[in-house]
Amino acid sequence: MLLTPLTAGTLPLPNRLVMAPMTRSRASGGLVTGLTAEYYAQRAGAGLIITEGTQPCVIGQGYIDTPGLHTPEQAAAWRVVTDAVHSRGGRIFVQLMHSGRIGHPSLYPDGSRPLAPSAIPSGEKLYTPDGLLDHPEPREMTLADIARAIDDFVASARLAMEAGFDGVELHGASGYLIHQFLAGNTNRRTDAYGGPIANRLRFAVEVARAVGDAIGPERVGIRLSPGSTLNGIRESDTELLYPELIRALVPAGLAYVHISEFGTRDITKVIRAEWPGTLILNPHPAGDAPATAADGVEALRDDVADAISLGQLWLANPDLPERIAAGGPFTAADPASFYGGDHRGYTDYPTSAEA
Ligand SMILES: Cc1cc2nc3c(=O)[nH]c(=O)nc-3n(C[C@H](O)[C@H](O)[C@H](O)COP(=O)(O)O)c2cc1C
Repeated sequence: MLLTPLTAGTLPLPNRLVMAPMTRSRASGGLVTGLTAEYYAQRAGAGLIITEGTQPCVIGQGYIDTPGLHTPEQAAAWRVVTDAVHSRGGRIFVQLMHSGRIGHPSLYPDGSRPLAPSAIPSGEKLYTPDGLLDHPEPREMTLADIARAIDDFVASARLAMEAGFDGVELHGASGYLIHQFLAGNTNRRTDAYGGPIANRLRFAVEVARAVGDAIGPERVGIRLSPGSTLNGIRESDTELLYPELIRALVPAGLAYVHISEFGTRDITKVIRAEWPGTLILNPHPAGDAPATAADGVEALRDDVADAISLGQLWLANPDLPERIAAGGPFTAADPASFYGGDHRGYTDYPTSAEA
């Protein structure tokens, strides 16, 4: 089932095996390198590759050595990646990730504080070469800051088109900026962007609409993680928030909604019923163990999704479709080389034939 074709938006995918977005922290000065082109090209057999989280503006960066997509130089560096993937017959969306309060002054040339819907620190820490640093209290965004952030997403999406991407995925999951607007514990605003659900979802919908208007909604997806507690998020109204958000997103006509499941399938089924378009699912109905191909098959068989995104399996198995067709074996990913470093644990995972 995973190996049957599908159309997402207007993009034909040869299979339903999506490579989930994974930060690898191997960029240099915000620029992806030739090694990154090799890494993604090795995985061009995916129905769709979604890149690592990529900052659409300087203040959107949340971690060291992540790539950006807000300057012509960054777009040119990404062009090498998209060309490499396309020459191997693949398709690739860039994940635009504004990290909001999950940032740090040490990441920004002017040392400014990160931005967020409200001035509430995450209580978590940032990993740096100098050790773990506390996330500072973010600065509450003004209405001008919000308008600027939307413009930054739009400008970055336009650069993505120049860089040869097939589309962009808006990172609305895992406690980053868009999620910080959605959740009540990170959004205490009293203006049109805070308070009732209709206001908290406004930023997500405005970003989706603006980016869709700029590059075509069929080239835009959004990732959501209902109920996730990553990065200090505590939703009090998941069951009400997400159906209302999905209903508000429907008119925008996006290519897909991508659900990062967080320990329950119930809300996934509710979203499936509300969303008329393509649904990509990272299947995690229970537990933290890496998702398996069997988890994906089960979700497709139960018709809770149209396509399955997998993270660690793609990271460690560049020829994943072939391995699934053969029933395995699968290499386990090594967490020690997830973030930063060189080609080891990045481009040196072998194909079945090489192994
Ligand atoms: C090394 C690593 C980096 C990740 N970085 C991102 C990211 O940049 N954006 C994102 O939306 N999810 C990110 N994730 C989450 C994955 O997309 C995926 O949801 C998670 O790994 C669970 O799926 P799996 O069990 O198939 O690995 C990351 C996961 C890993 C392992």
